[in-house]
Amino acid sequence: MKKEQLHIEYDLYNDISELSGEDAALVQAARDVTAKAYAPYSNFLVGAFAKLANGETISGTNQENASFPVGICAERVLLSAASVLHTNVPIDTLAVSYHNLNGESNKPVSPCGMCRQALREYEDRTKQPIRLILSGMEGKIIILERSTMLLPLSFGGDDMK
Ligand code: THU
Repeated sequence: MKKEQLHIEYDLYNDISELSGEDAALVQAARDVTAKAYAPYSNFLVGAFAKLANGETISGTNQENASFPVGICAERVLLSAASVLHTNVPIDTLAVSYHNLNGESNKPVSPCGMCRQALREYEDRTKQPIRLILSGMEGKIIILERSTMLLPLSFGGDDMK
């Protein structure tokens, strides 16, 4: 037996002013698109905005439902839209932000477990890492070079071969 270790590395910025112009624009777009979330039950509005490898951009917001499990996160709305509108085009960078109508929105939150798995599948499928930028409406921002860093020891199609 031997001990193994996994570690993840990310960049932490104090606020949007420290980002490059291109990253700042993506964060601002993710913040803006939170206004289009349909989240009447949680009042937690999530916005996702991505730049694709073909230069196009795409957005997603969370879509809730009175039957709670039917709801879907902003990230997976975006991935589904990208899959249809820009089939097989890799996602270069995905910015995720949120506006908590019941509280603060000043620190980054990261994608839920189901979205991490969906992001992993998208990376596998398009054979390119998805760079993630996580933020709230203000405050600190996290940048990860690939979304799969959030899902160590994950399960994928290769495991079924
Ligand atoms: N939500 C997202 O859209 N993305 C996340 O990364 C975390 C959670 C949504 C799901 C639900 O509509 C609301 O936020 C509260 O969990």
